[in-house]
Amino acid sequence: MTRPLPFTSPWLLAPMEGVTEPAFRRVVFALHSPDVLGGAFTEFVRVIDHPVPTKVLQRYWPGHEEGAPVGIQLMGNHLASVAETAAAAEEMGAPLIDLNFGCPAKGAIQGCAGSALLDDPPRIESIVRACVEATHRVPVTAKIRAGVRTADRVEEIARAVEAGGASLLTVHARTRLEFYCPEVDWTRIARAVSAVNIPVCGNGNVLRHEDLERMRAATGAQFAMVGRGALADPWIFSGQRVTPAQAARFLLDYAAALGGDSPRLYRASAARVKQLLNTWTAGGLVNHDRKQRLRETCPERFFGWLTEVADPSKLAP
Ligand SMILES: Cc1cc2nc3c(=O)[nH]c(=O)nc-3n(C[C@H](O)[C@H](O)[C@H](O)COP(=O)(O)O)c2cc1C
Repeated sequence: MTRPLPFTSPWLLAPMEGVTEPAFRRVVFALHSPDVLGGAFTEFVRVIDHPVPTKVLQRYWPGHEEGAPVGIQLMGNHLASVAETAAAAEEMGAPLIDLNFGCPAKGAIQGCAGSALLDDPPRIESIVRACVEATHRVPVTAKIRAGVRTADRVEEIARAVEAGGASLLTVHARTRLEFYCPEVDWTRIARAVSAVNIPVCGNGNVLRHEDLERMRAATGAQFAMVGRGALADPWIFSGQRVTPAQAARFLLDYAAALGGDSPRLYRASAARVKQLLNTWTAGGLVNHDRKQRLRETCPERFFGWLTEVADPSKLAP
């Protein structure tokens, strides 16, 4: 019997390094009840050859958050260290532990972690099992890519995750070689669904609200996960159409959550907001003027523009 999952909606926010830290999760959760956005994940926590100290885990997951459950994602290949870190995460009260077998970055591959393990399903099984055995109640889940160079072994990898005792398998439909290519083949998710009995979460190119249900219907997956689509439009989980003012307010709230009220972090938070603005679509906030907004080097003027759109009455006459 696998451990029950804590999600109350099938739509999940993907782990994204450099983005899905506590501040971003807070503002996204403020838009959606857990019945709409079922859960989210921390950025990956790299486990090398020592367990990660609780203080470090707390930077990724500071404790109970308002909103849906957040899984702590671990990435590593050292069995004892990953398992001990999983046990520490459970001890901290994390509602879910996710294992990363998809990261295509050079650092992960050189450390034989992330997507480097996709060619070694027995190793994936051992890592999942070690984490399940090191914990008592918390569900352990795994996120894979469809393969390294081809998707030929997706069923085998999926079965390894299941055999290790995982409660959920997330399949990012691209291979490592495909990196973040524009096209994705959802039939690979359907193949994983047919290969295992545990729930599967599909991932890859959910770009609009309608794609969430479309992915489930096309693949048979129980859950669907959104990555970059949520960076362009954080309302993708509900499909709500927002105004430019609501979009600007979200970005200002994000800056404030990042600590943008403090002078030291003001410039840094402007840079983070601009990172989102690069691909932003919500509310039609930026169109032909995107490049001009991104070129603005003065944070005061940048935030002044957002404040004016969010609430013109707040501007000095
Ligand atoms: C900036 C960025 C950072 C990412 N970081 C992680 C990560 O920490 N862990 C992980 O499992 N996947 C990570 N991913 C992959 C996403 O979770 C997701 O699988 C991928 O973006 C495909 O989904 P999409 O087509 O909806 O964007 C990252 C993706 C992006 C764009």
